[in-house]
Amino acid sequence: MPVVMNDRLAGRGNAGGRRTPDDSGGGWPGRDSAPLETAEQRGRDIFIQEIFASIASDIDFLSSFFSFGLDQRWRRRLVSLLDLKGGERILDVCTGTGKLAFLLARKVRKGGSVRGVDFSREMLGEAQKKLGARSPNISFGFSDAKALDFAENSFDAVTVSFGMRNIPDTASALRQAFRVLKPGGRFCCLELTPPTDRRVKPLYEVYCFRVMPFIAMRVLKTAVPYNYLPRSIRAFPSRDEFRRTLEDCGFTGVSVHSMTFGIATIFEARKAG
Ligand SMILES: C[S@@+](CC[C@H](N)C(=O)[O-])C[C@H]1O[C@@H](n2cnc3c(N)ncnc32)[C@H](O)[C@@H]1O
Repeated sequence: MPVVMNDRLAGRGNAGGRRTPDDSGGGWPGRDSAPLETAEQRGRDIFIQEIFASIASDIDFLSSFFSFGLDQRWRRRLVSLLDLKGGERILDVCTGTGKLAFLLARKVRKGGSVRGVDFSREMLGEAQKKLGARSPNISFGFSDAKALDFAENSFDAVTVSFGMRNIPDTASALRQAFRVLKPGGRFCCLELTPPTDRRVKPLYEVYCFRVMPFIAMRVLKTAVPYNYLPRSIRAFPSRDEFRRTLEDCGFTGVSVHSMTFGIATIFEARKAG
């Protein structure tokens, strides 16, 4: 499926409280009228779906390659923070090809279950291919993070890895996660973030804005997904902003774990029991 990159799909002239990445290096437009907001939201969703449709079969390889394998180490850290005992029911939102979901499924063991949801059919297709006899407690399905198809108080934990920065209306996704969590349930969100260590920043910028798109262009024959990636990282709310949004959405006990010079961060929170 082609990736279309135009002003509307890239989110220029967007509405809503949240900044949106554009293709020119992160300009942030102002607020528009409410009807436009819906059209813009739909446009951004289509843009994101096209991005992931275009890289679904390559994303596992490219993510490990570009992160030197750190992506999986960060996911494991998220799993260890959840301190799973076995038997839990977990929802993995923006599950993609299911890399986090499979790690979680191992920890909740046979008595527990993991449901992975995503709004990209192509990414879900890749996840489904990995299902086998050894994964009886994991299933995948289509659901938009902003409108989850689950009853309230359904899950012991809700997780998101590398998905939240693709959702401009962060608060609506967080409110949904809060709604479907059981009282006392845990929310864990792993996201790529700009480095906190200033010394690595110049190298990081060259790597993200020049090297990755260059390699992607050769491998995928399009640089669009990897032009979008660093801009979406830049566009993601700061750690303090995201913490505040979590609290505004009802979460308590928020803690923030920076990893690898701050280039990845885990946000952990609870729904009060
Ligand atoms: C970078 S992938 C991450 C996949 C996986 N969690 C991982 O750790 O590899 C981001 C995923 O978020 C999904 N996504 C983005 N916005 C979404 C939304 N509003 N609802 C559901 N899924 C969404 C995309 O389709 C994509 O599969």
